[in-house]
Amino acid sequence: MLSNIYSTLLSLVCLILISSTNAVELPGNYTLPKNSSNLCLIARFDLVLNVEYTQIDGKKNISKIPLNNETFQYYDGACDLSNSHTLTLTLLDNLTTILFNFSMDEKNKTSLSRVLATVTIADNAFFPNCSKYARGIHPFVTNESLFITDRSKSYRCNAQTKIDNFKSDGNVTIKSIDLQNLRIQPFVDSSIIFHDYETGKND
Ligand SMILES: *[C@@H]1O[C@H](CO)[C@@H](O)[C@H](O)[C@H]1NC(C)=O
Ligand SMILES: *[C@@H]1O[C@H](CO)[C@@H](O)[C@H](O)[C@H]1NC(C)=O
Ligand SMILES: *[C@@H]1O[C@H](CO)[C@@H](O)[C@H](O)[C@H]1NC(C)=O
Ligand SMILES: *[C@@H]1O[C@H](CO)[C@@H](O)[C@H](O)[C@H]1NC(C)=O
Ligand SMILES: *[C@@H]1O[C@H](CO)[C@@H](O)[C@H](O)[C@H]1NC(C)=O
Ligand SMILES: *[C@@H]1O[C@H](CO)[C@@H](O)[C@H](O)[C@H]1NC(C)=O
Ligand SMILES: *[C@@H]1O[C@H](CO)[C@@H](O)[C@H](O)[C@H]1NC(C)=O
Ligand SMILES: *[C@@H]1O[C@H](CO)[C@@H](O)[C@H](O)[C@H]1NC(C)=O
Ligand SMILES: *[C@@H]1O[C@H](CO)[C@@H](O)[C@H](O)[C@H]1NC(C)=O
Ligand SMILES: *[C@@H]1O[C@H](CO)[C@@H](O)[C@H](O)[C@H]1NC(C)=O
Repeated sequence: MLSNIYSTLLSLVCLILISSTNAVELPGNYTLPKNSSNLCLIARFDLVLNVEYTQIDGKKNISKIPLNNETFQYYDGACDLSNSHTLTLTLLDNLTTILFNFSMDEKNKTSLSRVLATVTIADNAFFPNCSKYARGIHPFVTNESLFITDRSKSYRCNAQTKIDNFKSDGNVTIKSIDLQNLRIQPFVDSSIIFHDYETGKND
């Protein structure tokens, strides 16, 4: 509880600190390719990154980092493989990236199949008093099978989905990546102009 309150306060402090330097607008929609009306991937969701790290006193602390117009830097991605589309979000001064790998199986079912994240820990507003053992770049990966739907359909889920199968590397762990208010169509038919998400699975 204490750490929740603390994290909330911390986030507020960070927002104020960071807003003055790099104000970036969070896109309401992640679309690939960007600036095209023929899309191969479209998504929208809220995201909170929960990172546990060791402090100099040896205790663990959890930093809850919401993706918002202050923490977000930019997004990108690739649809070059017919059965694998990737959305990459970059946040925290470009030091942290989260890569969502969507795949399509032989039955044309699509899913979020893999999440790769790279978190850079430094003694900054997000990871105060971090131990020297926690500092540096930490890669994480987890295989998933989430948001399964037909290729021609979208997936919508307003409730929170926790991605929390990341392995700890000892002094730094992604406890979870929480997604909420999600709608996704990771394999849009790019030969036709996109108008709106297809209906599909609602969770
Ligand atoms: C960020 O979003 C909040 C709430 O939507 C808004 O009040 C604030 O002005 C935005 N900041 C920037 C820099 O866009
Ligand atoms: C997101 O895309 C949909 C479909 O193109 C559009 O209706 C909606 O206005 C967009 N939302 C934002 C915030 O850009
Ligand atoms: C995409 O569109 C936005 C706004 O319309 C513009 O600022 C940006 O430069 C465009 N990007 C590319 C790669 O064309
Ligand atoms: C996180 O750090 C703050 C201040 O450093 C401390 O008050 C709080 O108890 C810590 N939380 C945990 C779970 O160690
Ligand atoms: C993050 O990277 C993008 C793209 O390379 C760049 O436009 C932006 O200025 C960078 N932001 C920071 C804070 O380094
Ligand atoms: C995404 O997943 C597909 C299928 O599992 C795989 O072929 C591809 O290499 C993955 N891409 C990344 C960047 O992990
Ligand atoms: C998957 O989609 C492709 C392209 O639309 C189609 O040719 C193929 O028959 C579909 N396969 C199945 C199992 O539905
Ligand atoms: C960092 O640790 C020092 C000494 O334990 C403490 O006084 C300070 O409040 C901590 N700072 C933060 C931001 O947690
Ligand atoms: C995760 O998926 C990748 C590619 O599909 C595979 O190479 C790897 O063995 C899987 N890892 C686990 C722990 O299942
Ligand atoms: C984690 O921190 C401890 C000291 O607290 C250190 O001995 C250990 O090597 C660190 N582990 C990793 C994987 O860095």
